[in-house]
Amino acid sequence: MKKILIINGPNLNLTGRREPEVYGTMTMDDIVAATRIALAGRAEISYFQSNHEGAIIDCLHSAGFGEADGIVLNAGAYTHTSLAIADAIAAIDVPVVEVHMSNVASREEVRHRSYIAPVCRGTIAGFGADVYRLGAEALLGASGC
Ligand code: DQA
Repeated sequence: MKKILIINGPNLNLTGRREPEVYGTMTMDDIVAATRIALAGRAEISYFQSNHEGAIIDCLHSAGFGEADGIVLNAGAYTHTSLAIADAIAAIDVPVVEVHMSNVASREEVRHRSYIAPVCRGTIAGFGADVYRLGAEALLGASGC
């Protein structure tokens, strides 16, 4: 069975009560549980969240050389600022799919730029809580892990 790691960046621990009109009302516990159920028998899903850039980089390093088969990453606002996370993704062996619950392309200009998109396998955005399942599905598919 494939090992998929979901990594969430800053503020995503507040999903469910943070700007529910943008990010919905499901908590991350609910979303991870639903993702596990949807992929049962096909993938083992582990989950990590941090509000700290360095902790996200440490997690990419420790999972990225075989500990996980694939990584689904919602880097939150670090998506739009972090060359260091982009470098970490480029450094590791394991494929990373970038996800965003909101459609970042339809939001403020500052959210249109992703530092991590060029070093990720692909990007899924705008489908709410489903992006985690869709990201994992992409990793399990032919061009994934
Ligand atoms: C987000 C989009 C980012 O622009 C934002 O900073 C987030 C969440 C999303 O899931 O839609 O924190 O990554």
